[in-house]
Amino acid sequence: MTSMKESTHPLIKHKITLLRDKETEPKKFRELVREVSALLAYEATEDLQVSSKTVFSPMGEADGSELKETIGLVPILRAGLGMVEGIWELMPEAQVWHIGLYRDEETLQPVQYYNKLPNETTVGVCLVLDPMLATGGSAAATIDILKKWGVKKIKYLGILGAPEGIKHLQEKHPDVPIYLAAVDERLNEIGYIVPGLGDAGDRQFGTG
Ligand code: PRP
Ligand code: URA
Repeated sequence: MTSMKESTHPLIKHKITLLRDKETEPKKFRELVREVSALLAYEATEDLQVSSKTVFSPMGEADGSELKETIGLVPILRAGLGMVEGIWELMPEAQVWHIGLYRDEETLQPVQYYNKLPNETTVGVCLVLDPMLATGGSAAATIDILKKWGVKKIKYLGILGAPEGIKHLQEKHPDVPIYLAAVDERLNEIGYIVPGLGDAGDRQFGTG
């Protein structure tokens, strides 16, 4: 069974509460998404591989490390976009590959509308970024695409997850670890996470 890690970090808990608050305006909301994403990425990348690297400080030789794997950040459009910036600052060499999916409001099934991946994979490890893991359909479909592209190591980073979405993703992709800022109670009758934070895309882009 896939590992699922719900953050217990006090900074994340504090910021999630502000994200949920319906009085939080889009500007602040985007800021919080960026900050929570960076904190989550710190937790999710503790096992990245490094190789040895020697440098010379002003005082002499120092044994060090450098990241070994090529990292791909894969935001699911459009709500995942807001998660890129904070993580990219931590790993500026990462490639960013966008996947466009929206959830059909009637069927709740993901519909793909953007994918410009080249034929051959160019990354060793992918971090899939989407704030909301609701039914899990969008996350599972994106990971299908990345596996077909040839990516061997994939991690999913989300802000809120519903138990239904976690179960679905674990069943479809048992090899993909899931990192969440918080696990919520359930999905409501229209597939929204409760208590959740509402529509993550609308709240970031001011389109609600
Ligand atoms: C939201 C969210 C996920 C998806 C989650 O996107 O950002 O991509 O729904 O739902 P699921 O787990 O049931 O698939 P949405 O379809 O609203 O598109 P948007 O990001 O363009 O607003
Ligand atoms: N997408 C969102 O933006 N919010 C939810 O609660 C579920 C799907």
